[in-house]
Amino acid sequence: MQPNTMEKLHIFDTTLRDGEQVPGCQLNTIEKIEIARALEAMRVDIIECGFPISSPGDFNSIVEISKIIKDSTICALTRAVDKDIDVAADALHYAKRKRIHTGIGTSDMHILHKFKSDREDIIKRAVHCVKYAKKYVQDVEFYAEDAGRTENEYLARVIEAVINAGATVVNIPDTTGYCTPYEYGEKIKYLVENVPNIHKAIISTHCHNDLGMATANSLAGIINGARQVEVTINGIGERAGNTALEEVVMAIKSRKDIPVYTDIETKSIYKNSRLVSTLMRMPVQPNKAIVGRNAFAHSSGIHQDGVLKNRESYEIIDPSDVGVNESTIALTARSGRAALNHHYKRLGVELSNQELDEAYDKFLKLADCKKDINDDDLNIIVGVTRTKQNQRIRIKFLQVVCGKSSVPMATVKLVIDGEVCTATSSGNGPIDACFSAIKSLIHRKITLEEFLVQAITKGSDDVGKVHVQIENRGNIYYGFSANTDIVTASAEALVNAVSKIL
Ligand code: KIV
Ligand code: ZN
Repeated sequence: MQPNTMEKLHIFDTTLRDGEQVPGCQLNTIEKIEIARALEAMRVDIIECGFPISSPGDFNSIVEISKIIKDSTICALTRAVDKDIDVAADALHYAKRKRIHTGIGTSDMHILHKFKSDREDIIKRAVHCVKYAKKYVQDVEFYAEDAGRTENEYLARVIEAVINAGATVVNIPDTTGYCTPYEYGEKIKYLVENVPNIHKAIISTHCHNDLGMATANSLAGIINGARQVEVTINGIGERAGNTALEEVVMAIKSRKDIPVYTDIETKSIYKNSRLVSTLMRMPVQPNKAIVGRNAFAHSSGIHQDGVLKNRESYEIIDPSDVGVNESTIALTARSGRAALNHHYKRLGVELSNQELDEAYDKFLKLADCKKDINDDDLNIIVGVTRTKQNQRIRIKFLQVVCGKSSVPMATVKLVIDGEVCTATSSGNGPIDACFSAIKSLIHRKITLEEFLVQAITKGSDDVGKVHVQIENRGNIYYGFSANTDIVTASAEALVNAVSKIL
């Protein structure tokens, strides 16, 4: 239940439209449906699914998503062109709740150079496209492209005219990511104060991140009266991306001075971040706010001690609120005894004060030569011989066939508790084939949560380091390996993680 004074902020997700415009991030219909289902389950209010006139693939995805999604509104983008709007209406035919998002550039830059037109003509075209879309749907959102660089007085005239024409939502995009938070907030305030019919529509923010200010700008817009925010998961999108859903939602949840609430089921944030990252083949940077691998990892001794005494001393968000099981206390040369003891306890090793002192000395020496200390290192330090050689599962044989004209195949022989078993599988690449073969042998349901390959130097003879994170029965297991053969390193890293389950 939300306090009465709070107003609802509508979450409009454009991962499948603006996010999908990123080169290399294209999705097929099945992948788009999977993301749309995840967004609906997370209680996103509006899902923008594509730009239907742009390709048969986009059109078809909107049709299929419209048949499946019932709770969220399905939105399709168009230009201020009748044919675009006809096609969008067609694509949305099956949607239970539907919206057409139409609009035109309003900055002088767009008016003079893109449209070779003038301001009065642009207002006429804006009004026409809204009226035309209204013939098909009740819910019409108008975007004033490049509103960030549009003079406020003219923008107010455009917005007043499109609301009179029937627009239910007016989108004020900072298309080039040029605005500062103060300027963008003032723009929204100007519209609230100077557009006489503004109360008949919802104002929406749509901020790009070219100067790294997309989230700050969106929040400034919300504080000044916007009640819809356009976002993408992980902030993906054209150039430097769009406003990240997780950042806005968690800023609103964490800060009591922003007078709005969202319906987002925040515990799905981390899971959906990884889903989008995997399907769009777009890794999440480790220090990304809210969803980066290090977002809840503490590495300096002072911070670790503080977090272990009271999480809130260095954390403003409870990791479980975004679906991350617990904070990570990373072990590095800057860690203190408290962090080391915490990890031994986690591994079930109880140490006396003297044993902890001895372990700490050895740990510091090792940490000086090795960046991250893992569980195996800790076990070695206290003499527990649970090293990789003694894993209950190891690879005895691995062979892959791949190349341009053959289906990638892998044969893997594993030794599990002394017993040898073999499997051959195909995949969409040699690593996928290896992973399928390994999965078929371990008889555990695992989900790959993260797969990261790093090269140490730039040479083709380099050692590749592979980190994997897998999920089994709600627990996360981490595996690592390094090898000049990247396929072997990947398979070993997966086996390393799996052996921790066993
Ligand atoms: O950035 C932008 O202006 C857009 C519009 C098409 C809404 O994506
Ligand atoms: Zn955009």
